[in-house]
Amino acid sequence: MNSLHPIHYPVANPSIGDREKEYLQDCIKSNWISSSGKYIVQFEKLFSKKLGPGHCVAVSNCTVAIELALRALGITLGDEVIVPNLTFAGSAAPIQRIGAIPVLAPTAKNNWNIDVNSLKNLLSPKTKAIVAVHLYGVPCDIKPLVAFAKENNLRVIEDCAEALGAKIEGNYTGTFGDIACYSFFGNKILTTGEGGMCMAKTLELAEMIKLYKDHGMMPKERYWHRVIGYNGRMTNMQAAVGVGQLESIENVIKRRNEIHEIYQEYFSKNERFLNLELDDTYTCVTWLESPVLQRESQLDRNQLQEDLRRDGIDTRPFFYPLSSTPAFNRFGDNDPNSDYFGSHGFNLPTYTTLTNEDIRFIGAAVCKNAEKQNLQVNGMTLPPVYPSNNQASEKIDISVILPTYNEENNCARLITILRKQMISISQNYEILVMDDQSTDRTVSEIEEKFVSDSRIKVFVRSGEKGLALSIYDGIAKAKGNYLLIMDSDFNHDPSVTSKMVQFALHYDIVSGSRFTTGGGMDSSFRWWGSLIFNTWLRILLILPTQDNLAGFFCIKREKLESLDLDAIFRNYGDYFFRCLYHAKKKRYSILEIPIYYNERTYGISKTNFVKTLLLYVKESLKFRFQTLLNRQQTTDNRLSLVF
Ligand SMILES: Cc1ncc(COP(=O)(O)O)c(C=O)c1O
Repeated sequence: MNSLHPIHYPVANPSIGDREKEYLQDCIKSNWISSSGKYIVQFEKLFSKKLGPGHCVAVSNCTVAIELALRALGITLGDEVIVPNLTFAGSAAPIQRIGAIPVLAPTAKNNWNIDVNSLKNLLSPKTKAIVAVHLYGVPCDIKPLVAFAKENNLRVIEDCAEALGAKIEGNYTGTFGDIACYSFFGNKILTTGEGGMCMAKTLELAEMIKLYKDHGMMPKERYWHRVIGYNGRMTNMQAAVGVGQLESIENVIKRRNEIHEIYQEYFSKNERFLNLELDDTYTCVTWLESPVLQRESQLDRNQLQEDLRRDGIDTRPFFYPLSSTPAFNRFGDNDPNSDYFGSHGFNLPTYTTLTNEDIRFIGAAVCKNAEKQNLQVNGMTLPPVYPSNNQASEKIDISVILPTYNEENNCARLITILRKQMISISQNYEILVMDDQSTDRTVSEIEEKFVSDSRIKVFVRSGEKGLALSIYDGIAKAKGNYLLIMDSDFNHDPSVTSKMVQFALHYDIVSGSRFTTGGGMDSSFRWWGSLIFNTWLRILLILPTQDNLAGFFCIKREKLESLDLDAIFRNYGDYFFRCLYHAKKKRYSILEIPIYYNERTYGISKTNFVKTLLLYVKESLKFRFQTLLNRQQTTDNRLSLVF
């Protein structure tokens, strides 16, 4: 990260109010500055009242809280303790420090917390406990986790360092397991500078924590060490600040959640960002706003952070999965979801003194920088032609036209991929399915799957049937500035479509090719047949292009409209060589990019290959001679330049 850019918005900014200062002065005046005093007792009681129920023991930080909790639960040398792979090291280090073995659990798919379904695979006769982390303010699936623990006689420690105030079914996280641990570090929802809390389900457990926290001495048995303990004490001064903070904690949680709501105006409807799938009964708390980039957004998270820093906005990356770090890699394997969240998530400034305007500035800066990055292809920066505004508007940038006839199982899947491709360049797109009265479930499948997405429009055609005519109808209906025309049966590689649109900013037509370097078809008869026929077309029509049959292209609407559409689409035979021919007549610049496909992966060709080729030979000859005929009648000089 470049540190030359001044930061206007740090990620966190603690707020210490008048109450905190008053109580702190009281401590200093009274000289109760160490780890005894009334504020410790008050802090523990008030914490339990507001965020419990539970038996609270204030401690020096959350890492120590977890270590004390493990000790109090009797976890010892050689025991195994399951802990999420994606968490801060402070959740897992105490396990190893007491001589037990952390066992790293994978992350759930649509929520960055522990995957509860993975627990049974991690279980061994040595497993004694689970450290369940509620990461970034989102409750983990603690109820099934506790049920699993009960069935298998395991103890549960809830790591609530980042989730003070989150709830499940109206109950605070931290009240489900045996002991909950909290952090009061300066960036946390409640801060005492440094500090932590253990909240135990039973008084006995709380007593054990107290024993370990104070050198293994019971309060009434001074210097009599029952166990080897720690110094894990919190000071009265820290607790005084804690009491002041607790008095207004409800307002703090409310404001933090308002901050999240404002950020969500920028992220929740923007398909570059992931929306977590959470149970309705979960109430998150906003510790740090935590957007996660969609895999398909093609955005580089680190680059985005760098760009935001340039705008004066500090961010944090999500934690590295512990399995990827030298300290913890021997405790578990990498898992794809931890890798994904770890590399695509980041934290934004979140603190109560941010104004709504500040939040909007930051939200807009994230979207603007993401958009800018999407418009960079192969190292060259493309002009930002798409609006930076992410609110959906009536304006449509891209129309994808998909002619279909009996594409059940193909087209719906294709649309799913296309949606992700399109969103990486614009929110304003539409996908037009031009169906030639399919006799299978093509239409119903698409309608069922995309019922709530008004950008997917299905038209069942009634006129004369045919591929070219379907596309012709699609062009008439399309509203986009750019039109992308392709087959609906995976004959064309959907993963290149976003690139095609981006290159279409620089070229008049961008077409897919199986014959440019990196493209390809299967090496059989079809490949040779296509190559020979393409060569034939190149010679016959003097075309510059190698694949004149692909039919997979992106073109600016006004460019297509100024071609002779009737001649291209209202005739039998492949429309694409005619399109290229007319484009060449207009001196359009044409870029061919490889389609990468080796063969038609999913779709089955519904036409007889040899018959079609012969028909195309006939059609191309007809077309060629008609053109020559027209040429004799026309005074258009440009034709003579072409031939
Ligand atoms: C999930 C989690 N667990 C544990 C800790 C450790 O907290 P402390 O810094 O109070 O030791 C943190 C700190 O950020 C955390 O995020």
